[in-house]
Amino acid sequence: MLKRFSISLDEDLLEDFDLFIRQRRYENRSEAIRDLIRKSFVKDEWAADKDVMGVISLVYDHHQHQLQEKVTEQQHDHHHLIVSTTHVHMDHDNCLEVIIVRGKARDVQELADQLISLRGVRDGKLAMSSTGKHLH
Ligand code: NI
Repeated sequence: MLKRFSISLDEDLLEDFDLFIRQRRYENRSEAIRDLIRKSFVKDEWAADKDVMGVISLVYDHHQHQLQEKVTEQQHDHHHLIVSTTHVHMDHDNCLEVIIVRGKARDVQELADQLISLRGVRDGKLAMSSTGKHLH
């Protein structure tokens, strides 16, 4: 369930934030804030730089200009992180892409961030699990 809350920001900080949003191609402030909160939650994992396995899932409209190409290009750029990719044509417009990834938590998170923030991605998630390699 989505809940709304309001945020008060200094005008200059808000301008910087809106610039950040445009540069990262976010659709709106809420989506950018959600991603920033999520990023902060995984920061501890990054610090440890654990080996993880994860699943990135993306729902997107394949009619969005060059989106399919961008999704594929990002994966080729990070092919060393990718174990497997499954593409499902959900309906006439929408695709579901499920990408199984393995690598350092930081690298996996960055790849997921880049994919999820692409314009036209309607839903994006990263589920991260530790391989347990460094558990004591
Ligand atoms: Ni498709």
